[in-house]
Amino acid sequence: MITLTTPHQIQSWRKRLPARGSIGFVPTMGALHDGHLSLIKRAKKENALTVVSLFVNPIQFGPKEDFARYPRPRRKDTALLKKTGVDVLFAPNTKAMYPNDVLTSVIVKDLTDTLCGAPSSRGPAHFSGVATVVAKLFNLVRPTQAYFGLKDYQQVRIIEQMNEDLNMGITIIRCPTVRDSDGLARSSRNTLLSPQERKVAPLLYAALQRGRKLLRSPRKMSLREFRHQIKSTLLTIPNVKIDYIELVDPKTLHKCESPRAPALLAAAIRLGTTRLIDNILVTR
Ligand code: PAF
Repeated sequence: MITLTTPHQIQSWRKRLPARGSIGFVPTMGALHDGHLSLIKRAKKENALTVVSLFVNPIQFGPKEDFARYPRPRRKDTALLKKTGVDVLFAPNTKAMYPNDVLTSVIVKDLTDTLCGAPSSRGPAHFSGVATVVAKLFNLVRPTQAYFGLKDYQQVRIIEQMNEDLNMGITIIRCPTVRDSDGLARSSRNTLLSPQERKVAPLLYAALQRGRKLLRSPRKMSLREFRHQIKSTLLTIPNVKIDYIELVDPKTLHKCESPRAPALLAAAIRLGTTRLIDNILVTR
C-alpha cells in the first residue's frame, strides 16, 4: 500500500497512471469498522485499483460538535487497510487540505436543509462541508466509481446530486448499511457509547422497523399518529433526546404528507453526548 499525504502527491500519482483500468474510491474519516470494510472489499472486487482516503474534515463539524473527540485510531486504521489490500491510502492533514481560508464551497440546495441539515439538527453548513471535501477528493483522485454507505442516506443523495449537477461523471455506488447482530448500524461514533448506552442503542433500529410494519399494515393512520408510535419506542431509551423522526420521499427528501411507502424513514437521537442516526427505505 502506498501512503500519500498531500494533494500534490496524489495528483502526481494519478497523472502517472495509465488511462486504462478503473479506480474505486472510498472516502472515510477513519475509525474504520465493518461498514467501511464492506465498501472497501466491494471497491476492490469491482476495480483495478482501490484508493481510500482518511481525513477528519473540520469544515463539516459545527462549533459545538464532536470534531475534537472524533475517534482517530490512525495506526489501527492503517494496519487494517494494509491487511485488506488497499492500493493507495490518501491521509492528508488539515493544513494540506485547507492551506488557506476556504473561499469556495459546494452548496447543494434543497436536499441539505432537511433531516440532519435542518437548522434544529446539524444545520445545512454540515452538508456544504461534506460536499466541498468530497468534491476536492473527487478532483484529486478522479475515481471511476466511489462507494458510500446508506446509513448516511442523505449524504449519499447529496453526493449523487452534486456529481450529476457538476458533471463529475463518477459512478456513485450505494452500499447497504452494515449492522451488529442486535441491529445497531455500524458507526465510528459507536465507540463513544458507554456500555449502558450501547445496550439500548439498538432500539433506534427497532423503532424504524416498527415504522416499516406500520407503513405496510392495512390500517390507515395520520402522520401524527405514525410519528407518535415511533417516538414512543424511542422514548423507552433511558436519557434519550430525539433529534428528529421523519418520513420523506427517497429522491427529493421532501417530507411525506401522510404515512405511505415507498418512503425513507429516518431518525437521529442523542444518547448522552453521542449522536446516532439510522434510516430504512420502506418499499411497498
Ligand atoms: O461519511 C463520511 O465519513 C464523511 O462524511 C466523508 C464522506 C468521508 C466526507 O468527509
